[in-house]
Amino acid sequence: MCGIIGHVGTGDAIETLLSGLENLEYRGYDSAGVAVQNGAGIEVRKRSGKVSELKASVGNPGLEGRIGIGHTRWSTHGPPTDENAHPHTDSTTDVAVVHNGIIENYADLKSRLSERGHEFTSDTDTEVIPHLIQHYLEEGYGNESAFRHAIDALEGSYAVAAMLSGEHAIYAARQGSPLVVGIDDGEYFLASDVPAFLEYTDTVVYLEDGDVAIVRPDGVEFTNLDGRPVSRPPETVDWDPEQTGKGEYDHFMLKEIHEQPTSLAQTIEGRIQPDNASIDLEGFEPGSFDGIDTVQLVACGTSYHAALFGSLALNRAGIPARALLANEYSVCSPPVRDGTLVVAVSQSGETADTLSALRAADAEGARTLTVTNVVGSTAARVADESICIRAGPEIGVAATKTFSSQAVILALLAHRLAADASDGTPFDIESFLPGLAALPDRIDGLLASSNADRIARRYVDAESYFFIGRGLGFPVALEGALKFKEITYEHAEGFASGELKHGPLALVTPETPVFPVFTGEEDEKTLKNTEEAATRGAPVVAVCPDDHRATELADAHLEIPETEPSLAALLANVQLQLVSYHAADLLDRPIDKPRNLAKSVTVE
Ligand code: G6P
Repeated sequence: MCGIIGHVGTGDAIETLLSGLENLEYRGYDSAGVAVQNGAGIEVRKRSGKVSELKASVGNPGLEGRIGIGHTRWSTHGPPTDENAHPHTDSTTDVAVVHNGIIENYADLKSRLSERGHEFTSDTDTEVIPHLIQHYLEEGYGNESAFRHAIDALEGSYAVAAMLSGEHAIYAARQGSPLVVGIDDGEYFLASDVPAFLEYTDTVVYLEDGDVAIVRPDGVEFTNLDGRPVSRPPETVDWDPEQTGKGEYDHFMLKEIHEQPTSLAQTIEGRIQPDNASIDLEGFEPGSFDGIDTVQLVACGTSYHAALFGSLALNRAGIPARALLANEYSVCSPPVRDGTLVVAVSQSGETADTLSALRAADAEGARTLTVTNVVGSTAARVADESICIRAGPEIGVAATKTFSSQAVILALLAHRLAADASDGTPFDIESFLPGLAALPDRIDGLLASSNADRIARRYVDAESYFFIGRGLGFPVALEGALKFKEITYEHAEGFASGELKHGPLALVTPETPVFPVFTGEEDEKTLKNTEEAATRGAPVVAVCPDDHRATELADAHLEIPETEPSLAALLANVQLQLVSYHAADLLDRPIDKPRNLAKSVTVE
């Protein structure tokens, strides 16, 4: 969950490195640094705090160079101090290294290097890498060979970029953490993720695990660790650089909430034909799921809530399905049999917990499928098959548009699976598909008329916030609460509506607003549960259509347009995203980069 950037080219590297780091800040933002070859050697500037603070220090005195590496950090080993910020160097500053991931054998390497006289100045695992390279240089190896030997000694997960004094090259290696090379006429970029350099080029090469890339002014060489060439053909990404800026919005999160009509239209484009009631998930022809009789969905955070939504859609379609927290999978996975499909749901495709569950399922012999927003991500490549949700780049740490697109793809997958499964019960595709086709417009209307800002203002001083829902409303209640706590730092919980009376009701007071989500399924029961909270004095904010009975009981109301019960929860979710956003804004929180969180968590 750190961000790496590198640049080799003809122009000044500093600007590219700093803009790349700003674009990567969602991956971590407790410290940042850059290192450049300045003609006389390697010069490093790094400091705790945000990239903006690094920027100030880079200009004073001015740093110059045409080749450089940079890093934005989310601490795993050691607090976010200047010393622990990357790049790290050996004792002579002849080698500078940035790293994302975890070096599991760093303690052993550190003690062996210390015995040989190496002095360490940080608490990080990363610092062993430049010292190892230095060690091999002292042993008489050339630069490339020293780098390969050092990488070979590492255990764990890493994306590493290194510069060696005097050589116009960046050495990079990948094992378990993402790394992508960007190629433009005579300019080369290296980064953890494409948005870092998207304003310069859309031609990219994703490194695979075990790859080494050597980026020089005259080209990039891709090999395995032993030095044997590997073929890594360039791909073109179709993300628009405009999409990665904030545009007219104050925050990426608000922009991404408002992008949902467009992102959902992209998600379903060419994949649904409401007129002839058919679904065409490219690469999954009718019959491609023959023999699949159970589905396990593994995911974390918001993606887990989408997975839960997907599992309910699958169960309704007659396919036994369970959503499991990926980080619990190794200790609680249900048996994998012939006929088990394991679906990893991950926006980034790089979440270590999810990758680990995916690999465990693969080792058990399951057929695996990844649902992700990043085509070349690790999860997409580790799984047997993958489906892209096509939501476009999401920068705000709190996931918004990707949840909607994940949920929709999983609902489509449920229909495809049900059609193939011998005992699958095709459910109401005739009304579901037109409802889905209309969803982008309905969200557009909701965004234009939402009163979520007023609701946020009314309840912003409350003690705690409870979100309840039934059926497909339940994952949305969980997601509503997660969004709220992530960005407002206020206490919020989501419950199944019927569960409120089995414990959480003890917490309900006039200071705890309750947000019930009404989807049109068993609403009478949810209404009863809402009444139970209201009688204990809880203010009620009903999330439901305008003419719903709940509005009579509620103190306030967030409207959702009339739609299919299977899609109503997704509309409710957009209102809840807006409430969280406006509450966080009123509380003056750093909405796009909430404290202690990172967009992509690449450690278990
Ligand atoms: C982090 C983010 C969450 C996200 C989760 C899973 O914890 O802060 O917003 O939901 O990772 O990410 P993924 O990329 O796997 O969907």
